[in-house]
Amino acid sequence: MNRRGRKAQARIQIRKLRQGEVGLLQGARNLLDHPLDNRAARHLLADPAHHLWLASSEHRVVGFLRSVELLQLHTPRRQMFLYEIAVRPDSRGQGVGSMLVEAMLQYSRGRGFEEAFVLTDDPANKAAHALYKSTGGRTETTGDRMYVWHLAHSAKRRTRSTSAGRFISHPHFTGTP
Ligand SMILES: CC(C)(COP(=O)(O)OP(=O)(O)OC[C@H]1O[C@@H](n2cnc3c(N)ncnc32)[C@H](O)[C@@H]1OP(=O)(O)O)[C@@H](O)C(=O)NCCC(=O)NCCS
Repeated sequence: MNRRGRKAQARIQIRKLRQGEVGLLQGARNLLDHPLDNRAARHLLADPAHHLWLASSEHRVVGFLRSVELLQLHTPRRQMFLYEIAVRPDSRGQGVGSMLVEAMLQYSRGRGFEEAFVLTDDPANKAAHALYKSTGGRTETTGDRMYVWHLAHSAKRRTRSTSAGRFISHPHFTGTP
């Protein structure tokens, strides 16, 4: 990241949305795949298994991440599924996506989740692959479109030695850790 990017990153605030904070989502509506439905958003934010993080710079939303936690059959530990992430085109390449992923990893690790994972939509999406790799996500088979961040060191079913998802505690993370 260049100097301009680092300066921009210093201004980014990451916030985890709480129940009822639908109004704040309005700022992210241009980043969503579908028009925002306030009722649906309120419903999602009221569900403790669904999570939304916003990245803002000078009161403008510049990115968001949505994830959902999953129960598993082999362990009481949960998985976090990174369902979608997007950064405004004029704010890309400045570390916003990394900060959002790291906030999600911090939250998941702090609650003892086994792992987080994401499915990439397109092998040609270089930015997405670079983002997941640079935050510690690992693919497990050739041609895999799934990146995994291992969060619990006792993940017995993994045979390959893969590093735990890198997490850098960020001073600008203001959401519930
Ligand atoms: C993917 C996306 C969220 C990345 O967000 P971002 O804020 O630009 O990412 P960052 O600035 O944190 O960059 C993370 C890493 O990816 C690298 N990177 C970012 N854009 C890149 C690009 N176009 N090509 C190659 N590498 C890229 C950065 O250099 C950085 O690597 P580093 O940590 O080793 O320096 C953003 O490009 C986006 O919103 N794309 C459209 C939506 C999308 O594709 N979502 C993912 C669907 S699977």
